[in-house]
Amino acid sequence: MIFNPLEYPICLEFPLWLEETAWAEHIPFAMFLAAALHPRVLVELGAYRGVSYCAFCQAVKSLPTETKCYAIDTWQGDAHAGLLEEGVLMKLQAHHDPLYGGFSRLVQSTFDEALNHFAENSIDLLHIDGFHTYEAVKHDFQTWLPKMSERGIVLFHDTNVRERDFGVWKFWTELKEKYPHFEFLHGHGLGVLAVGAEIPNELKFLYEADEAETKLIRSFFYQLGSRINAVQKLHDQQNQIKSLQTYERVVQNSRMLRIYLILKEEGFGSLVKEGANKFGENK
Ligand SMILES: C[S@@+](CC[C@H](N)C(=O)[O-])C[C@H]1O[C@@H](n2cnc3c(N)ncnc32)[C@H](O)[C@@H]1O
Repeated sequence: MIFNPLEYPICLEFPLWLEETAWAEHIPFAMFLAAALHPRVLVELGAYRGVSYCAFCQAVKSLPTETKCYAIDTWQGDAHAGLLEEGVLMKLQAHHDPLYGGFSRLVQSTFDEALNHFAENSIDLLHIDGFHTYEAVKHDFQTWLPKMSERGIVLFHDTNVRERDFGVWKFWTELKEKYPHFEFLHGHGLGVLAVGAEIPNELKFLYEADEAETKLIRSFFYQLGSRINAVQKLHDQQNQIKSLQTYERVVQNSRMLRIYLILKEEGFGSLVKEGANKFGENK
């Protein structure tokens, strides 16, 4: 196995953009992959709040070579990821455009509508992370495959989810029969498929790894990813605490208002005001 992580210090970097996502644990591998592959064109199908995509962009920005990046999403959400609230794309643009606008575009469209805007054999790295039923992921792979270059790599998220109607695992089982592959089991599973005639030299260690090496590679990226996951969980908890505190304040205020209105109707206005002030002081 020839893989020296010290040649790819980018995979030790902390992401500049961390929002709600199921992808946080794969960020170190995403950054390694972009740095190792030097893709000429990178496309992500399913950006959601932009965590995986901005990790790719962060790594691409540090490369000496030119890479064009595209994130495609309706930014409406779906039945698996949940519906996205208004303003998510704008918030993402505010982070993304100043940092990455020079080489990257956020494309608001369906995957199918975007297809015609990409030439055959042009994409070096494709990340498929849209709707996760067997039929949807198969459709996304089959429609985008002609766009992949000779050294094309396709990433599949959620290869290790065995619940609801997620079917990436099943499609991944079929793909493994046909293409060189590597799979991470943590973070809901990430499949790394080499679909071109040529496997990039920098990634050969993944496809040639024996059982012991596979275990080591998985463990290495799991360890790096889990520290990012821990920080993300902390952010989530801090946000939850903030919204609970807001809720508590609203409840307190509405209780005070109710008491005031009832007593005001009964003609004790001035008394009530005084009482309310006292109540506020003693709180
Ligand atoms: C699982 S989320 C992507 C997660 C993201 N990669 C991350 O880092 O958190 C799936 C996204 O795919 C989008 N999506 C699903 N099917 C789509 C389609 N056919 N066309 C465009 N967007 C789609 C949804 O709007 C949703 O934002």
